[in-house]
Amino acid sequence: MPMSEGKDFLADSPLALASGAPDFGAVDAEEAWIAVIRKMDETYAELVRQQVELEEKNAALEEAQGFIAGLLGSMTDVLIACDLAGRVEQVNLAAERVFGQLADALTGRPLAALLDPSSPTSASDVLATAARRQRIADREFTLATPEGPQAVSVNGALRFDPRGRPVGVVLVGRPIGELRAAYHALASAHEHLKRTQQQLVHAEKMASLGRLVAGVAHELNNPISFVYGNAHALKRYAERLITYLDAVHGGADAAALARTRGELRIDRALADIPATLAGMLEGAERVRDIVADLRRFSSDNREAREVFDLASVVRSAVDWVAKSQMPDLAIRVAIPEGLEAVGHPGHIHQVLMNLVQNAVDALEGRPDPRLHITGERLGGPDGERVAVRVHDSGPGIPEDILGRIFDPFFTTKAVGKGTGLGLSICYRIAEEHDGRLEAANHPEGGAVISLILPSAARP
Ligand SMILES: Nc1ncnc2c1ncn2[C@@H]1O[C@H](COP(=O)(O)OP(=O)(O)O)[C@@H](O)[C@H]1O
Ligand SMILES: [Mg+2]
Repeated sequence: MPMSEGKDFLADSPLALASGAPDFGAVDAEEAWIAVIRKMDETYAELVRQQVELEEKNAALEEAQGFIAGLLGSMTDVLIACDLAGRVEQVNLAAERVFGQLADALTGRPLAALLDPSSPTSASDVLATAARRQRIADREFTLATPEGPQAVSVNGALRFDPRGRPVGVVLVGRPIGELRAAYHALASAHEHLKRTQQQLVHAEKMASLGRLVAGVAHELNNPISFVYGNAHALKRYAERLITYLDAVHGGADAAALARTRGELRIDRALADIPATLAGMLEGAERVRDIVADLRRFSSDNREAREVFDLASVVRSAVDWVAKSQMPDLAIRVAIPEGLEAVGHPGHIHQVLMNLVQNAVDALEGRPDPRLHITGERLGGPDGERVAVRVHDSGPGIPEDILGRIFDPFFTTKAVGKGTGLGLSICYRIAEEHDGRLEAANHPEGGAVISLILPSAARP
């Protein structure tokens, strides 16, 4: 580079002027000084501006820090921030309280040192989870506190620096005591509810068993008293016949025998014996049938699907439930000859006993109680079905509860009278039979409950 060029360059520079180069004039020097001072002014002004900006930023930073400190301080959950090696970097006030130590004493310590040896989750566990970039969700830590081990439920995740590199782990622990207490309260309430429901189910079973026994006992009573009365008559006839035969074998004369025969009313006894015997036989057969029904309808063989006659099931259900409880009930059963269904006759019997029982309950205390049971064949897209409808002359079912009567435990009856399980059991039985149960009110009054079942005529 030529020397002259370097000289020119220096001549423009305030630095060159400041160095007091001897070959410059006084005017030039003054201008140069003014330039220098102006430059210094500008620099100073820039410095002041930066200082103000810095102070503003500082103030904002302090405010943000205060806010964060306030947040951390008012958190009731324990917060621990540690580096990737598990060394504690920061804790909040709740952590200070739990560990009974100031933040300074806690920072720098390994996370593992803050845990009780009984902790179900270890420090290395959560650090490894975080390192895999998985969330730490509801893990249980047992903290070593001056008051002894304290369980907390821990949530946490990796912490990143502004450039997105992982620098540590943030953990938040919530004391499990409260959660556990709430859980236990819930569990015991649930347990209590379950027990109450079991008691109700048991009560329903006992009540329907009781009704069944009462109904069957009432049914058996008739033929048995019939048999009993006829047996007594036969016993008297036998005594008279023996007395008469004794007279015959004792060699009494014809006139005495005729007199004795008249006194003992032997001819009447002989004429009565066939009818008395037939009556006894009929009573015994009725008892046998009732016992057979009882066997058939109380068997609990769920697999036993059979084709059965609906009329006999309905008849027996009505007899067993209604006759003993409501002798003045006018019962009309209109089931066509040979209407058959497929299923478990015992379970269908149970459904019908429940429906008749509900009708009897609805009719209690009402004048002119009537029960009308009809059967019919139904066509349909999915084959032939049969329906049995139980219609009573009671008050009917209020519209607003029609949708709920099949719910378990729904009842409008007094405690001890109803459990609300009858219809829900019936509903389930109907479904198990590929059938259904429907409730409605009859236009002329009273409730109509319909049981629809697959027909025996279906392919
Ligand atoms: N024939 C009926 N007439 C009027 N209401 C009825 C009839 N059948 C059932 N209900 C109503 O349905 C409710 C539920 O019946 P159910 O499940 O058998 O339970 P429970 O008989 O124990 O109350 C009854 O409490 C009653 O309110
Ligand atoms: Mg009932």
